[in-house]
Amino acid sequence: MKEHTVTITDNKTGQQIELPVKHATHGPSAVDIGRLFRETGYFTFDPGFLSTASCQSSLTYLDGEKGELLYRGYPIEQLAEKSSFIEVAYLMLYGELPDQQQLIAFNDVIIRHSMLNVTMNDFFRGFYHNAHPMAIMVGAVGSLSAFYHDSTDISNARHREIAAHRMIAKMPTIAAACYKHSIGEPQVYPDNSLSYAGNLLRMMFSVPCEQFEINPIAEKALDLIFILHIDHEQNASTSTVRLAGSSGANPFVCIASGIAALWGPAHGGANEAVLTMLNEIGDVKNIPKFLERAKDKNDPFRLMGFGHRVYKNYDPRAKIIRQMCHSVLGKLCHTNDPTLELAQQLEEIALNDEYFIERKLYPNVDFYSGLIYKAIGIPTNMFTVMFAIARTVGWVAQWMEMIADDNQRIGRPRQLYIGPARRDYIEIYKRK
Ligand code: ACO
Repeated sequence: MKEHTVTITDNKTGQQIELPVKHATHGPSAVDIGRLFRETGYFTFDPGFLSTASCQSSLTYLDGEKGELLYRGYPIEQLAEKSSFIEVAYLMLYGELPDQQQLIAFNDVIIRHSMLNVTMNDFFRGFYHNAHPMAIMVGAVGSLSAFYHDSTDISNARHREIAAHRMIAKMPTIAAACYKHSIGEPQVYPDNSLSYAGNLLRMMFSVPCEQFEINPIAEKALDLIFILHIDHEQNASTSTVRLAGSSGANPFVCIASGIAALWGPAHGGANEAVLTMLNEIGDVKNIPKFLERAKDKNDPFRLMGFGHRVYKNYDPRAKIIRQMCHSVLGKLCHTNDPTLELAQQLEEIALNDEYFIERKLYPNVDFYSGLIYKAIGIPTNMFTVMFAIARTVGWVAQWMEMIADDNQRIGRPRQLYIGPARRDYIEIYKRK
């Protein structure tokens, strides 16, 4: 069969170049422009990478028009209904769902890596008491590379695997330590008899002087939210992890760079921004005023938790979490909260507003995850930390895939220089 190509013609010089097309299992094909600069002297210009595939990957597929999300080919709806966070983590790392033995062994490995080196306690204590937990987390995760020299040889597949296990296992412990530090309570060590989500809840909310019972509804809700947040293709934080990793940096600092990128309000920080916005709106009667602000091009205000770069249809994760939101909010503690009522009203009003309908601005996963976190009792400044725990699985899976890829090279985007043309230095006394 003839190779599928795309021909580009320069209408100034008449030069033509035929570029091969690479086909995807699902979704758009990609024109391979690897030879373009060498043979024509042109770069491509694509700020925000709206039309650029930065890599090939077999982890996650999403179709923004259809509102579809697949992990290793499995629809997110099926995984959300039938699987668990640990099982999906295995799927992402190893490519297939585990059998019973593999799942038990994997769970065991993750559990056994959940403790932190005790000297890390000094690290947490070094932060000012009101430090944002994300600030502590970026530092703490990066610092893991100072402890685990036996898993930083990225050319060794076993080192990579151990580093992946360590990060997935230690994230809840680090997250809880960040939180405990910020509220001045003693750290609670992990309990290997508990589930991944249950352990996190206990480390966050128990104190050494009292008995603690894990709320099974909160535990289940958290496990589900974690599944939904595991991976999302080449988003800003994942691309950051890949770019950092492409230079050969160790996995711990690569994940720390992903956490930094996730913190921004246009990305993982959106779930925190949703709650901040709801507090600012304050009352149902103020919703119309804020909707007008969101539509006003001269006002930087945006409705946080609405819109998505890729989904121009309902985010499938938002659909699942919305359903859960409506079913579990009433059963969870802390529900006598006017913010939850305000959020439900805002959702309804925005979904029926012409501006939002025309632009296909639907509530995204962050709109609802923040509400559930709040109902569980997780403070607003921990929302993005929760996201980071789940996304660590995606980050390490993407990083492992990249390192094992024979075509992997250091990431080095080019630019369109629009600064001053070459000019000569002027002596200071001659400058006007
Ligand atoms: N509120 C009001 N208007 C919006 C919003 C919003 N939340 N989002 C997009 N728009 C408008 C834009 O002003 C633009 O209008 P125009 O066509 O009249 O100029 C149109 O919708 C298209 O928006 P873009 O900015 O082109 O969309 P883009 O894909 O670049 O941005 C983004 C996506 C960053 C998510 C944006 O929708 C946003 O800022 N949303 C709020 C923050 C948020 O919830 N982020 C979480 C994303 S999900 C995640 O990270 C897991």
